[in-house]
Amino acid sequence: MKILITGGAGFIGSNFLNRFVPRHPEHVFLNVDCLSYAANLKSLEAVSGLSNYRFVRADIADQGQVETLFREHEPELVIHFAAESHVDRSIAGPRAFVMANVVGTFNLLEAFRQLPDAGARLFHHVSTDEVYGSLGPEGFFTETTPYDPSSPYSASKAASDHFVRAFARTYGLRVRLTNCSNNYGPRQFPEKLIPLMILNLVERKPLPIYGQGLNVRDWLYVDDHSDAIWAVIHEGRDGETYNVGGNTERTNVAVVETLCRVVAAETGVEPDELLGLMHYVKDRPGHDLRYAIDASKLCDACGWQPAETFESGIHKTVRWYLDNDAWVQAVRSGEYRGWIEHNYGGRGAAAKDDA
Ligand code: NAD
Ligand code: TYD
Repeated sequence: MKILITGGAGFIGSNFLNRFVPRHPEHVFLNVDCLSYAANLKSLEAVSGLSNYRFVRADIADQGQVETLFREHEPELVIHFAAESHVDRSIAGPRAFVMANVVGTFNLLEAFRQLPDAGARLFHHVSTDEVYGSLGPEGFFTETTPYDPSSPYSASKAASDHFVRAFARTYGLRVRLTNCSNNYGPRQFPEKLIPLMILNLVERKPLPIYGQGLNVRDWLYVDDHSDAIWAVIHEGRDGETYNVGGNTERTNVAVVETLCRVVAAETGVEPDELLGLMHYVKDRPGHDLRYAIDASKLCDACGWQPAETFESGIHKTVRWYLDNDAWVQAVRSGEYRGWIEHNYGGRGAAAKDDA
């Protein structure tokens, strides 16, 4: 099967490709990514030489590039990860989120519906629990919770979800959606809570906690998310949405304390030295209080269960960041950005690549 993955150089997409490209030589995986600041080709070194993997640099917000790609490759399955994904950046500059997440998704759907025999192909849309807004102290998001997004990021993802469902109803497309809770694990850009805190701990920098640090997220190890998507593609039903979550609610303070203790243990430092770096800063505007997922539909329909506990996943994640300094330096360094522009600058969707 020809599988077109968008956003495969980012955090979740690259972990997905590292997991499934080597296991499935019978499928061809075409990774389409514009290589934004959040992308890192070092995340793909293990798969880039495999014969069933190809990379094309393209911007999904560019209609012409998307049309060319779909005409050339005629994917049987699209798994759509690409997005601007960071809430704080969406507050500072929401336009990029509308372009990538709304216009980008729309362009993919438009090109998808024009493929020959479009109704036989499948479009899997990767989305977030943030579309549902905030919970109070009790309860869980289910697939029927009304949409109530708080940030420009979550509003753009909500809009993209609505376009996916509307195109399915209007044009008879086969679509499936997953709305997942917060992910963590290897290869996550260090602007999100967990990798930011790990790298600050290593460098003994302050750990900025928004507000009182009592906001709650339901954390899921990234490979468990990848397995959920794969399960929905194989065991799920067309037109359906599946919530994905780890049943692992933690306050931000609890997450940061755990990270302090795990980094201390892994690096032979006194925990109190690291706990002393915790530092409370101004709250995020529109900061959702609590996310919690009821994933029973997914578990019952597709037989999925998370493999990692929060403790085992955090331990693996801390070890990965400690062991992969070259990856960290690559996402941080201007030299790496320059290399990307030198190698990929000005190359459009039709460019065949071997990254
Ligand atoms: P990320 O920011 O790490 O990666 C996004 C990738 O998309 C990058 O490689 C980037 O270059 C690419 N991209 C962005 N705009 C593009 C464009 N216009 N054209 C082509 N490529 C583009 O994000 P992530 O954390 O890997 O998230 C992947 C998907 O999963 C997103 O749709 C996100 O909304 C969703 N999601 C993320 C989480 C999470 O906790 N990270 C949770 C639930 C759902
Ligand atoms: P984040 O990783 O940005 O994910 P999201 O906003 O999509 O949930 O943030 C997770 C939680 O951590 C969120 O409640 C905001 C909080 N946070 C901090 O307290 N400090 C930080 O520096 C960051 C990046 C996030």
